Amino acid sequence: MGTNIGRIVDEAPDMELVGGIDIREGTLFGTEVVPAAKIDAFLNEKKPDVLIDFTVAAAAVENIKAAARNDVALIVGTTGFSPEQRTTIASAVEGHVPAVISSNFSVGVNIFWKLVREAARELGDYDIEVTEAHHRYKKDAPSGTAKTILEILDQELGSREKVYGRVGETERKGEIGVHVVRGGDIVGDHSVLFAGNFECIEVSHRAYDRAVFAQGAVRAARWVVGREPRIYSMQDVLGL
Ligand SMILES: NC(=O)c1ccc[n+]([C@@H]2O[C@H](COP(=O)([O-])OP(=O)(O)OC[C@H]3O[C@@H](n4cnc5c(N)ncnc54)[C@H](O)[C@@H]3O)[C@@H](O)[C@H]2O)c1
Repeated sequence: MGTNIGRIVDEAPDMELVGGIDIREGTLFGTEVVPAAKIDAFLNEKKPDVLIDFTVAAAAVENIKAAARNDVALIVGTTGFSPEQRTTIASAVEGHVPAVISSNFSVGVNIFWKLVREAARELGDYDIEVTEAHHRYKKDAPSGTAKTILEILDQELGSREKVYGRVGETERKGEIGVHVVRGGDIVGDHSVLFAGNFECIEVSHRAYDRAVFAQGAVRAARWVVGREPRIYSMQDVLGL
């Protein structure tokens, strides 16, 4: 994601790529990539308007705290945060810097979430199964996008038991089934099945290229500068 985002910012006439942060030193489209331990010095020297974080949960928490300390607005796409990490992030951001935090920056997925919410409102008595598929290197499961789907279903239907895969004798009750597929270079598929008697409806989204998330993150970066210091969602950016 870092390379995808770097390319888009580098090519944008209204933006300037000032560098990157990773675990090792390197370069990114002619700019310097510094190790994460030097993030404060980097932000202080370069004074960027926005820091875009797509890393791993533990690293993202530290990067978010550093951005807030240095008065730099944030875009956070990293997934897999624990409830405690979410609390830490909220107290680092709220009242300090504006931050758009989303488990999925694609426009299509944000519309898909809306459709899932609408379907759940009408079809709460149907059996519901959530399925997601990603590439073999994805570290967290279920995906952040699938967790957001489950939050939406809980908001609309009340908290229901989640069953993660099934094996052996399993009697279906009122649970929501959650199924995770990992393989190859699948960019990201999500589907929510509402199954009733004599009919099913399936809401699904398929991403074909990771550039779609990078474009959304850069769009959010343009939007976030100068906003009130609090946490925003991609729905706010898109005005949904
Ligand atoms: N929100 C979205 O739209 C969206 C889309 C794609 C991926 N993601 C999420 O973004 C994250 C990254 O995904 P990816 O596919 O680019 O993973 P990746 O493993 O390809 O890249 C992660 C990068 O973070 C670097 N890193 C690790 N620790 C760091 C630290 N302390 N400081 C700075 N950099 C550090 C790694 O070296 C690596 O280069 C994952 O959590 C993934 O689920 C979100």
